[in-house]
Amino acid sequence: MSNDSVSKTIIVATLLCLVCSVIVSVAAVSLKPIQKQNKLLDKQKNILAAAGLLSPGVSVKDAFEKVEVKLVNVSEGRFATESELADLGVTDLSLYNQRRAAKTSGINVKLPSDIDTASIHSRAKYAAVYLYRDSNGGLDKIILPIHGYGLWSTLYGFIALENDLNTVAGLGFYEHAETPGLGGEVDNPRWKAQWPGKQVYKEDNSVGLRLKKGGVDASKPQAIYQVDALAGASLTSRGVTNLVQFWMGNDGFGLFLNNIRGEGV
Ligand SMILES: Cc1cc2nc3c(=O)[nH]c(=O)nc-3n(C[C@H](O)[C@H](O)[C@H](O)COP(=O)(O)O)c2cc1C
Repeated sequence: MSNDSVSKTIIVATLLCLVCSVIVSVAAVSLKPIQKQNKLLDKQKNILAAAGLLSPGVSVKDAFEKVEVKLVNVSEGRFATESELADLGVTDLSLYNQRRAAKTSGINVKLPSDIDTASIHSRAKYAAVYLYRDSNGGLDKIILPIHGYGLWSTLYGFIALENDLNTVAGLGFYEHAETPGLGGEVDNPRWKAQWPGKQVYKEDNSVGLRLKKGGVDASKPQAIYQVDALAGASLTSRGVTNLVQFWMGNDGFGLFLNNIRGEGV
């Protein structure tokens, strides 16, 4: 068979395709556990980062050892029971997929539009929360998953609270598709640095925390609840206010935080 023949060209091309597809498949399958591990590590890093618990020289794995993952029944404002965990089939909480649960009937809660201020349509009945303990085993910080719609995308992140369950320890988004330089400034460390120390709840227990268009006036008493809105990104800013208010309110973690404030953890 001559090298220029049509049949030889087809045989060589087919063999090449076969060899390449085998290499790609083997690589995809064998790298899957590493990908899973890296995904988990990335999530742990985001949780620690939101709470300001990442420090140079300490690995994410070591820092996360002080974090306890718990599942919360959000609607009832309490930790999930063993039987609820068994019903969900959750044996390893680090693998609980809240995003999938939010779309799965039976374990999600549909949100009517008057309640759905974060524009998420439905939320998971159960949420994984993260308790960071001090050296005596007491609660130091709690880190809660939050998400909601901005202008172009759903922003996914975490808000961390100090052990008074009212003072913000930090906030960070790990996934969104807002415009870099506009809504994407939610990732700017200078903007994020404004969150620690802010208060979530007013004296009447309503959620005061919000972004303030035009900038926060530090001389005003309400400044303690306010963070500067993002310049030129009013819509993303409104989305961030809405999602924070939703998740801190009684349709989010409000009830749970109120309960554990009384009972302790
Ligand atoms: C290409 C493009 C991308 C934009 N991206 C965002 C964005 O990510 N977030 C946002 O709030 N506004 C974004 N805007 C601006 C909004 O359309 C709107 O003008 C803005 O939110 C108004 O904010 P301001 O009142 O602070 O000026 C974008 C506009 C353009 C043209």
